[in-house]
Amino acid sequence: MKLTLVATCMFGLEKILGEEIDALGLTRLDTMDGRVTFSGTEADIPRANIALRCAERVFVHLGAFPARSFAELFDGVRTLPWEDWVGRSDAFPVKGHSIKSGLTSVPDCQSIVKKAVVERLKDKYGISWFEETGVKYQIEFFLFKDVAHLMIDTSGVALHKRGYRPEAGAAPLRETLAAALVYTARPREDILFWDPFCGSGTIAIEAAMMVSGRAPGLGRSFAGEAFANIPKTLWEDARAEAQGRIRTDCKFEVYASDIDEDILDVTYENALRAGVEEYLNIFQADARTIKKEDRRGTVVCNPPYGERMGEREEIDRLYQQLGGSFKALYPWQIYVLTSSDRFDRLYGQRADKVKRLYNGMLPCYLYQYFKPAEARAEKGRTAKEIFDRKPDRRPDGRHVGGRTSNQGAGQRGDRPYPPKKKF
Ligand SMILES: C[S@@+](CC[C@H](N)C(=O)[O-])C[C@H]1O[C@@H](n2cnc3c(N)ncnc32)[C@H](O)[C@@H]1O
Repeated sequence: MKLTLVATCMFGLEKILGEEIDALGLTRLDTMDGRVTFSGTEADIPRANIALRCAERVFVHLGAFPARSFAELFDGVRTLPWEDWVGRSDAFPVKGHSIKSGLTSVPDCQSIVKKAVVERLKDKYGISWFEETGVKYQIEFFLFKDVAHLMIDTSGVALHKRGYRPEAGAAPLRETLAAALVYTARPREDILFWDPFCGSGTIAIEAAMMVSGRAPGLGRSFAGEAFANIPKTLWEDARAEAQGRIRTDCKFEVYASDIDEDILDVTYENALRAGVEEYLNIFQADARTIKKEDRRGTVVCNPPYGERMGEREEIDRLYQQLGGSFKALYPWQIYVLTSSDRFDRLYGQRADKVKRLYNGMLPCYLYQYFKPAEARAEKGRTAKEIFDRKPDRRPDGRHVGGRTSNQGAGQRGDRPYPPKKKF
């Protein structure tokens, strides 16, 4: 059956998500903040859930209609074919959110939507009481500019939870955002990829998964696996398709280093669970002293932000020092994600490109350096100066390998990681 599907994402990732949808051979219908709508069939639900690296969830879109009043909302919901999905004993909880709409009370909208679905199913099944003991169909409404979109969540647990990171560092990056950073840096098998602030290893692991062709959803389950409309064989086929894309001949190399030696055990365990440990070279290093190797390289990192009181001076100093060590890496490309809107001023080089992203609700900037420092004004603009001139797209409108020591690549020691005696 031809379906309309919606993939949601963190703000700022819509373009990359759209390209991922294209790569699956699916047709995009619409893009708005935080969501991309596309067409597909039941078979594409498992494919999208398993393969999309930047999506948070995949929904079946049942319909959209103007809803300026509760009456309009009720009537619109009641006309949708809920019985095509929800069986007589299934559970159908409702949640949602409202942006720039007259109906601002989410709890009220929730109960109206629930009542309307109940009325529809009463008529269809000829029963007046719903046990809701069967499969869970999470209904989600999204009111935007007085238009209601009604959807069923096929993902269940959000897709950024790949299953490889039960343990994380103090400030882990969401896997979907890490994947977007990696995607932006266009990693290649013949170019060394390095995260010198690796923490729990999210960026390095996502890079290894991407280049080796390992789909992010291969190690987890999805709510839609229990749906009567999506036969189990479609999930098996999608997993087999994803499995078939894993490259066994991949020579990609990723360095994952951090100043904190203890976090490196977490990095290794996470990489092992993700099935990409063979691509990672995990070692302790101070990012301020890393050295270039005689080959091409890309650095992608998420250094500390210093959001807490008293940390700012220390972080400013760190960013200034990176201006020395990272600039010496040229012609390597450098990608730095931070919430600081003054990073390139402290770093001492105007970024060739700055992209605004959100780490949860925290606005962040991805500073991208491709050209040598001499080709740029040494005193960069601040990200604030750049974005003050652009319309804001904040999400606030809602109502709702080998491990070695600290000498940088090229001079890495030869202590294997994990230490040989452990295994
Ligand atoms: C924001 S966290 C990175 C989180 C990581 N992206 C993840 O997903 O877990 C910053 C990391 O930088 C490390 N760090 C701080 N100063 C450093 C330095 N001078 N050199 C290398 N690592 C450093 C911290 O130990 C911490 O793990």
